[in-house]
Amino acid sequence: ATKDGMTVDPLRTVAKEMKFLTGNIRKLLGSGHPSLDRAAKYYTQAEGKHVRPLIVLLMSRATYLCPKSPLPLPDQSRGIDSSISPIQILADVNPSSTMPPLSPPDIDVPEANSDILPSQRRLAEITELIHTASLLHDDVIDHSVSRRGSPSANLEFGNKMAVLAGDFLLGRASVALARLRNPEVVELLATVIANLVEGEFMQLKNTERDERNPKWSEETVTYYLQKTYLKTASLISKSCRAAALLGNADSMTVEAAYSYGRNLGLAFQLVDDLLDYTQSGKDLGKPAGADLELGLATAPLLFAWKQMPELGALVGRKFEREGDVAKARELVLQSDGIEQTRALAQDYADKAIAALAHFPESEAKDGLIEMAQKTLKRQK
Ligand code: FPP
Ligand code: MG
Ligand code: MG
Repeated sequence: ATKDGMTVDPLRTVAKEMKFLTGNIRKLLGSGHPSLDRAAKYYTQAEGKHVRPLIVLLMSRATYLCPKSPLPLPDQSRGIDSSISPIQILADVNPSSTMPPLSPPDIDVPEANSDILPSQRRLAEITELIHTASLLHDDVIDHSVSRRGSPSANLEFGNKMAVLAGDFLLGRASVALARLRNPEVVELLATVIANLVEGEFMQLKNTERDERNPKWSEETVTYYLQKTYLKTASLISKSCRAAALLGNADSMTVEAAYSYGRNLGLAFQLVDDLLDYTQSGKDLGKPAGADLELGLATAPLLFAWKQMPELGALVGRKFEREGDVAKARELVLQSDGIEQTRALAQDYADKAIAALAHFPESEAKDGLIEMAQKTLKRQK
């Protein structure tokens, strides 16, 4: 709520664009093979939070009034704007595996003239596709049984199909990305895909039993934050940067967009890691307490470990021994690990908001601020 008691709904300013999101994503995912089609579209059925596309759209609108000067010709650096005709699809051996042309008029857009470019809308969809692909793979790696309140894709279709569906999403995201005709944006999002894998590797390595009784150190936290950037904040920050680039924003604005996304992404994952301790599986729509079960020491545990060195032995054996998970959980809840995690998340959310300082006042800017505040309040 604002000072005068009015609530700002960050969704409102981009509600029209959000309405088309899932439909456009499902169009990007059409496959002639019925079971691939079903697996690929599976996570688009349940209503996800769509946090990332929402942020990309808000960032697009909020940076609209920060153009590089002199203004470029409309057919340059504006992606698939109206000046570019639909792309010819080369003959394909199997036509059903070809993605249909998606440049205007094939992209569904709100009727009214909008300050959000078609390329920026497409970026929002690509961002959600990459995120969804990572969830398909993540649920295989984590042996997860539920997602968004339904059985996970790996449970529904098996590991092989879930992995391939994720790969298919990445393939289609890459085609859509290439069609934006902006090499810098392609490079950013391609880097995100590599970063997601690097982050996941750091997480696996973190829990490898290469040390029997590790000692807490500042590096433990640095490693965790680096992993968190790669795993979560890279996608949000580089998508925000790409949104500003597609809108031809000046370089200060591009940097600010990146900084907002980076700090928000870190806050977002810190909150995710604390909700894993504080919420029930029913609240989350996915298993709760999953991190300890997976052998993962996230922020709440790292802060508790600093105060309680006996946690080191449990971290060292990935909480594998009978009673380890319960013991670790108890110690974390006794410590102020949850509060410290929340405080750190708050710091990052504040930094995200501070990054927007020079943006011109707009509803979209208020929406971005509200998103940062909401990140700390969310319950799932
Ligand atoms: C969710 O984390 C997972 C991620 C944020 C990224 C996972 C990345 C990979 C599996 C790398 C390979 C994938 C691609 C598409 C490049 P979580 O397990 O902490 O969250 P959860 O509780 O929602 O499962
Ligand atoms: Mg997971
Ligand atoms: Mg995971």
